[in-house]
Amino acid sequence: MNIVITGASRGLGLSHAKILSNINSNKVIITDISKSASSAFSQNDKILLKKLILKKNVDIVYGDLNKNTDVVNILKKIKKIFNDKIDTVICNAGGDIPGNKLNAFGNKSKKNDYMISTKQFNNIFKRNFNTSFNFLKLIIPVMKKNNYGKIITIGSVNAITDQSNEFSYSIAKNSIIHYTKILARDLLKFNINVNCICPGPTMTSRFMHTLNQRKKEEQKIINKIKGLQRIAKPEDISKIVKFLISKEADIFTGQLFIADYGFSIGR
Ligand SMILES: NC(=O)c1ccc[n+]([C@@H]2O[C@H](COP(=O)([O-])OP(=O)(O)OC[C@H]3O[C@@H](n4cnc5c(N)ncnc54)[C@H](O)[C@@H]3O)[C@@H](O)[C@H]2O)c1
Repeated sequence: MNIVITGASRGLGLSHAKILSNINSNKVIITDISKSASSAFSQNDKILLKKLILKKNVDIVYGDLNKNTDVVNILKKIKKIFNDKIDTVICNAGGDIPGNKLNAFGNKSKKNDYMISTKQFNNIFKRNFNTSFNFLKLIIPVMKKNNYGKIITIGSVNAITDQSNEFSYSIAKNSIIHYTKILARDLLKFNINVNCICPGPTMTSRFMHTLNQRKKEEQKIINKIKGLQRIAKPEDISKIVKFLISKEADIFTGQLFIADYGFSIGR
């Protein structure tokens, strides 16, 4: 299977790349905004990325998914590596911080409610919605030609809970859910499944970096390591990705998979 994972040089995307590239018949392309993204929050991500790209079945392509020329260039490289056959796309790029191409780093916005500055609102919204929208607009025509495909979008538990302090992020992730449903219906006749995973708090380097900038209830769960209402590990989410892109999951399309150890219902 030929798989593209966006924003995958660290965190959840990197974990998906690790698990999916363990299957030898899979070929995985990681994309990310810049080389500095992988070490922005932890050296461990950088070390794992280095290991993965040494594997025969893993490639990496850099570019900003919010810049048209970059997106065109990324697609060109992907088509070349995959010989025009793209089976699976995991639209993982995002995150609840503003960031930029130079350092791919960021903190949570100081004003993060409905009074957030328009500049920061747009930055976070584009990072979480437009990255998928811009990329899939170019990818879907290639997938349609093969009359097969699986697309996974990444929402968040914040998309379905009232998050007054994650204003732009929760609106962007809610848009991802609506977008997933529209795509799923429009792509039925092309045999392309589109599903959305909404993770709850998950222990990635970015999440840990922003922990003390978060609400009390999110800070509390970090101490709970067993049972429900605990924080997820990246591999918990990667296992769901692995299932949803498999033949066993052909029956699902246009669906939302809330993966949060009960975080959204247990408050
Ligand atoms: N970790 C969590 O608790 C959690 C919870 C719910 C949802 N999510 C979602 O899961 C995904 C991964 O989260 P993570 O914690 O690994 O975050 P992360 O910030 O470590 O990973 C996001 C990646 O996207 C890349 N990216 C951002 N803007 C980009 C752009 N314009 N072009 C290309 N790449 C770009 C970043 O460089 C980064 O590598 C995100 O969409 C996030 O919103 C995470």
